[in-house]
Amino acid sequence: MASEKSKVRVTVSENGPYIVTGDIPLAKHTIATDAEGGSEAWQKGPAVAHRETYALCRCGASQTKPFCDGSHLKIGFAGAETASRDAYLNQAKVLDGPTLQLTDAESLCAFGRFCDPNGNVWSQVTQTDDHEVRTMFIRQVNDCPSGRLVAWDKASGKPVEHALPVSIGLIEDPEQQCSGPLWLQGGIPIVAADGFEYEVRNRVTLCRCGASKNKPFCDGTHAAIKFRDS
Ligand code: FES
Repeated sequence: MASEKSKVRVTVSENGPYIVTGDIPLAKHTIATDAEGGSEAWQKGPAVAHRETYALCRCGASQTKPFCDGSHLKIGFAGAETASRDAYLNQAKVLDGPTLQLTDAESLCAFGRFCDPNGNVWSQVTQTDDHEVRTMFIRQVNDCPSGRLVAWDKASGKPVEHALPVSIGLIEDPEQQCSGPLWLQGGIPIVAADGFEYEVRNRVTLCRCGASKNKPFCDGTHAAIKFRDS
């Protein structure tokens, strides 16, 4: 009889790696830019081979990234989870537009910069009665890897979220010449080192450079320190 598959989840270990269970697919996700250097699209792949359960580096020091090699012990990594445990909507500001609303929890920003092109999403939301602007707004908000930004349909009161397969992306940011966070897609449960279960969300970014001030989530510091996973 086939062994029962382990549960899909990511568990933060105390001052150590992320333990990934449930055979979650892993692949590079690279930010492609437009002529002005603005974030335009995600390029997916190649896939990274892994076991059903695997440990991803959280301290930024492994020599076998994205996997853990025990370096967190050698460097005395301090990985305390400092992020708010409040629900996303309790942390987010609401910006109103004619057909859509935007919620924005700035502390979750992973510096993907998909919000900036085409007049920026904070301005676009006020013009969502224009079909073209509305379409761009929804695309750009859904490309925000951290889920800092969420679009809401005013008629239904529901989020306008693109369905994402359960997977983990290893973000690469050539424009900033750095590697970025882990992009958890498709509602992967995240369990803290003390057993707390964070709110399950469609898009979440976890710090893998070790330097975020909002652990376990990315706060964009990887760009300032030019983190590289190679
Ligand atoms: S990976 Fe973004 S702050 Fe560490």
